[in-house]
Amino acid sequence: MPWRVSIHRATISSVPNRPFRSDVYPWYDSVWLAEYTRAKSTIETTRPEVLRAFVDAFRIFHTPPSFRVRLLERIFDDDTMAEIRRVVRSLRPTDLELREARAFGRFVVHDHQYFTALHHRVVPIVSGVVAEPVEPAYNFLSLYGNLGVCPPHMDSPEAKWTLDLCVGQSTPWPIYFSQVCPWPESASDTWRDGDWEEQIKRSPSLRFTSYTLEPGQAVVFSGSSQWHYRDAIPAGPGRKFAELLFFHFVPQGSAALLRPENWARLFGVPELRSARPAANAERPVAG
Ligand SMILES: [Fe+2]
Repeated sequence: MPWRVSIHRATISSVPNRPFRSDVYPWYDSVWLAEYTRAKSTIETTRPEVLRAFVDAFRIFHTPPSFRVRLLERIFDDDTMAEIRRVVRSLRPTDLELREARAFGRFVVHDHQYFTALHHRVVPIVSGVVAEPVEPAYNFLSLYGNLGVCPPHMDSPEAKWTLDLCVGQSTPWPIYFSQVCPWPESASDTWRDGDWEEQIKRSPSLRFTSYTLEPGQAVVFSGSSQWHYRDAIPAGPGRKFAELLFFHFVPQGSAALLRPENWARLFGVPELRSARPAANAERPVAG
């Protein structure tokens, strides 16, 4: 029963500290944005006449400022929720990815067959909520334990839209979303500060709002245009845990554009051939 596996600090110290953020921005899942800003700089230097077309091509990944997080009371019926929980209980320790045990206090499982089928099933619902046709990107189950925490971050546009379903939890655990804001592309001095995470959390202009899910409830948000975080999982009697299922969506037909390794070909700029895949072995997740 792997969801009963607790993460102890001794365990964490043995987990390799594999990179999950870029060398440009300090937050989790910032590799894509770093590649994008690097590509813009390359184009500006080598093919400035292409810059406008390049920037315009990515406008479909910018979220309208009018978008609001949506709470969904009952995305799946009782039988489906029961099946989700049965699948979670059936997971073996070898099914779990450990690389986020240190930073997030969680184990994850990507693109499980059953969850992928559900992912496709909710496409019409999410398309309606976000007011544009979407297609599935990737999904993952997140099994937070006693050291659960989710530092502030913005997701790659591979997660322009996220449906976050609460499967189970020891106690309600708020997630905070900023209002929709522009991509933080500039190399701000803020990122060099040791307390940049606190600056983000406390910024009045970001207008964070908390959502607290009960099992069976879900939220739809735009993780690539909204800062989001969870503080440490709340203390309480007994074991602390949160089981969350994340389905990510992109605008329909946009998947190829999201891959930096395609940019040289798509934009006729050979100098972009060095662009690195943003989702390689360290596939980003977005919780
Ligand atoms: Fe995220």
